Amino acid sequence: MVGILLNWGGAAAGTVVNLPAPSLKGRMSVEEALQTRRTIRRFGHRALSLAQLSQLLWAADGVTDPKRGYRSAPSAGALYPLDLYVAVGERSVADLPPGVYHYLPDQQGLELITPGDIRKELAKAALYQSWMAEAPIMVVITGAYARCTRKYGERGVLYTHIEVGHVGQNLFLQAEALGLGAGIVGAFENQEVSQIMNLPTAQEPFLIMPIGYKH
Ligand SMILES: Cc1cc2nc3c(=O)[nH]c(=O)nc-3n(C[C@H](O)[C@H](O)[C@H](O)COP(=O)(O)O)c2cc1C
Repeated sequence: MVGILLNWGGAAAGTVVNLPAPSLKGRMSVEEALQTRRTIRRFGHRALSLAQLSQLLWAADGVTDPKRGYRSAPSAGALYPLDLYVAVGERSVADLPPGVYHYLPDQQGLELITPGDIRKELAKAALYQSWMAEAPIMVVITGAYARCTRKYGERGVLYTHIEVGHVGQNLFLQAEALGLGAGIVGAFENQEVSQIMNLPTAQEPFLIMPIGYKH
């Protein structure tokens, strides 16, 4: 099913939400965003809009050249080993029920993987960093090494990790430019996070980035 569903009434896994088109104009320069960026660990309870969520995901690793399929973050051999998932909390994004969503860059959409608010479980899996659960959303950057090691062998592991850093910084800077703040969490139990999020076995979780209004 495709389309923005305003009244979900228990949407099923596999439902796809089209996100608003991202904007190519912002209110803050890249220099200002670099200067003000900090890891944020206190968030306000204000919900994000679907447009803000769309903008964040597009900036993180969205398609910027549809003809060639190139994205906002560079990727060794343009193999794109990473995937983005979003844990959306209760009343956290306008018109989007809580759940785990998979970002679909080619169609600027979100596929619902599992309904329900898992923020507290993710915070627990991240060595009980409870501040994380106060953020309306958490973007989880995952990846499948095989997409990269198939061509580059062991070096593909390094390349995959480097790409995570690019995507993470894109998210940080876009959050700042939108007047939001992002945190970054690498301290978590991989297996627990994979289980909570129901990730495919080939997908490794790399980073969790809680994002919202700064408190
Ligand atoms: C790979 C990585 C993992 C991190 N993991 C955590 C974490 O688990 N919890 C946390 O509070 N901060 C985490 N941080 C944030 C750092 O503590 C933070 O970047 C550093 O203190 C510098 O502060 P700044 O980001 O505000 O410049 C992590 C940063 C990186 C790059």
